[in-house]
Amino acid sequence: MAENIQTNATAQSAEPQQSYRRFGPGQRFEHVVLLVTFTGLAVTGLPQTYAEYGWAKALIDLMGGIESIRVIHRILATILMAEAIYHGGILTYKLFVLGRKATMIPGFRDLKDVLQWIAFNLGLRQEHPHLPRYNFGEKAEYLAVIWGTVIMVITGFMMWNPIATTNFLPGSAVPVARVAHGAEALLAVLSIITWHMWNVHIRRFNRAMFTGNLPLDAMEEEHGEELEQILAGHVDEDPPREVIAKRNMYFFPYAFIVGTLLVLGLIFFVTFEDTAITTVDPAVVVEAPDVVEVSAEDGVAETGAEVWASLNCNECHGENAEGGEGRLNVALANTSLTFDEFVAAVRRGPADMKAYSVRDVSDLDLAHLYAWLQSQ
Ligand code: HEC
Repeated sequence: MAENIQTNATAQSAEPQQSYRRFGPGQRFEHVVLLVTFTGLAVTGLPQTYAEYGWAKALIDLMGGIESIRVIHRILATILMAEAIYHGGILTYKLFVLGRKATMIPGFRDLKDVLQWIAFNLGLRQEHPHLPRYNFGEKAEYLAVIWGTVIMVITGFMMWNPIATTNFLPGSAVPVARVAHGAEALLAVLSIITWHMWNVHIRRFNRAMFTGNLPLDAMEEEHGEELEQILAGHVDEDPPREVIAKRNMYFFPYAFIVGTLLVLGLIFFVTFEDTAITTVDPAVVVEAPDVVEVSAEDGVAETGAEVWASLNCNECHGENAEGGEGRLNVALANTSLTFDEFVAAVRRGPADMKAYSVRDVSDLDLAHLYAWLQSQ
């Protein structure tokens, strides 16, 4: 109990107030990680959600452009996910090895506390409810952090890995995830700057998350029941050494396996795809060039002779298009066809002749061929 009570050296009052240990270095460290990643994620994320507004564009430019903030956002998200894994490990250790109570889980008594607290604030009740180690407000906030993180991780994954996502979900799932991610972000930021700010900064500047300690008056109001227990000598005693050692034998292999799986999952998450970082420039609309109508006058007979030689027309129509013996011997020299009829026949491929597309022979080459045929 001695280490639970310390003198609050920073108190301004003449008589230093008693203060009580609330958070160890590990918890304070986790809070700083949360503070930094949450703020950074909001600052790099919200401008992406509201990218069409001027203020968002200005912020994005200030932070080095859209691709830069996407990378920062992903780094912070990775740190936050790693912190969530670490938190899960610590929590499991406290619950199953140290045998601590799950003081963050809300229950029926919290409902009672809320009602009493409302009655007190309305003047219907004389006495402030005696609140436990974590009061209803703190529990609600903790659960909101967990819930919010789960939503953000799932929807974040869908946007980070859109191709993988659409392998098993319809394409509309990605924009849906985007809307949910942005809405949950706005909700979280608003609740932090109202609920959290009010309760721990404005109403009373609560430094417990930084110093680890809470002064007596704050303890009385916010954790009256816990204070009574501390004063009555109740301390969370750790189980005997042998018990801890025995539980550790189970805990550490378990923690190693689960931790490894989660870390592998995290690596999978962040390395699976590297899409959705670069912004693809909007497609440039190219004006199609005016279709040039080729006419018979464009043909040059000498070129036509070369084209004839380079194609396989001679196999059926003869070396000089003169036709010849056999079923396929169709003379073309000095054809009576008009140029348009000639082109139409080649493109259509009459009878046993194959159809020649523009890929096989261009309109201009046909004009050359036609000119040459006319000159035969
Ligand atoms: C596999 C043999 C074969 C090849 C190769 C071939 N043709 Fe023909 N072509 C024919 C046959 C057979 C006909 C006529 C069918 C008919 O009697 O209507 C024909 C018809 C034509 C006609 C229509 C003649 C008319 O008076 O109606 C044109 C024009 C023609 N070929 C051009 C070409 C050109 C140009 C090439 C080369 C790019 C070519 N052909 C290659 C077999 C061939």
